Amino acid sequence: SFVDVEKDPLVVLVTGAAGQVGYALVPMIAGGSMLGPDQPIILHMLDIEPAAEILKGVKMELLDGAFPLLKGVIATTNVIEACKGVDIAIMLGGFPRRKGDSKDLIFRNVGIYKAQASALEQHADSNCKVLVVANPANTNALILKEFAPSIPDENITSLTRLDHNRALNQISENLNVHVGDVKNVIIWGNHSSYVYPDANHATVDIGAGLKPVRELIADDQWLNTEFITNVQQRGQAIIKSRRLSSAFSTASAACDHMRDWILGTPKGTWVSMGVYSDGSYGIQPGLIYSFPVTCEKGEWLIVQGLKIDEFAREKMDAVAKELMEEKAVAYSCLH
Ligand code: LMR
Repeated sequence: SFVDVEKDPLVVLVTGAAGQVGYALVPMIAGGSMLGPDQPIILHMLDIEPAAEILKGVKMELLDGAFPLLKGVIATTNVIEACKGVDIAIMLGGFPRRKGDSKDLIFRNVGIYKAQASALEQHADSNCKVLVVANPANTNALILKEFAPSIPDENITSLTRLDHNRALNQISENLNVHVGDVKNVIIWGNHSSYVYPDANHATVDIGAGLKPVRELIADDQWLNTEFITNVQQRGQAIIKSRRLSSAFSTASAACDHMRDWILGTPKGTWVSMGVYSDGSYGIQPGLIYSFPVTCEKGEWLIVQGLKIDEFAREKMDAVAKELMEEKAVAYSCLH
């Protein structure tokens, strides 16, 4: 519809903005892919001191993009300046995952997320919505939640939309149908190699209506093995080919996550988001766990009542156990 009254700009923070994902993400945000073509934006980009010069260059490119929606850009290494008045925070910054010790990764990121949580707590809008992308995303989000107690629990989320989109693609390739016609896969749990992509409730629009993926793919074996491992190992496969982590697919998934959260999921469709568990599906409260959700007017709701078979139950519990372990490691360095 024709918009004659311009919306107020939203302040969007991107941490780690000088990195690969940041470089892919900021033009998407400025171009309207995250918040819609009628939503003006003020972008706050934060990175650490050694990346200050790179960040300056990214800012120059953003300005040269002459984006009509972009009403202001701040590029800074000052966390307080970055967090001031933030409505939406996309947390890409963190100590990067390397080969080897995942404990070390958690340790290093706990410090970073504790500090950034305090800055958001004190300087961001009190209804700020947060998406954590940096690995280990679910546990980083949990630390952020702990140290930003005045931000509502439901406003702190982690990214599993990348895994969700990867699962849609696997089914689309297997059935040779368009990815846009595949719906309602579920990503349970953690963004890790334990992630459980579940196609038990997924459907394909075959023109004459929706058909369950389980009916279209007669080969249970593929859905119970390769489909799952392909999604679990996709990040590593991309690193092997590109010699760098996935970047624009991550950025695109972050846009999908925020857009659906804020503007709503289409009727009859759910998506996957890492959210604070309320005990749904027997998952312990106190974890940031990925569930199927529908969204409306900036609020998500976990899809209830889906039938969970034994195979799924086992995988959902295994990934919950991994998250409990990550949580224990994270807390052990807080005290
Ligand atoms: C991905 O899923 O592509 C990344 O999380 C992989 C990584 O470890 O950087």
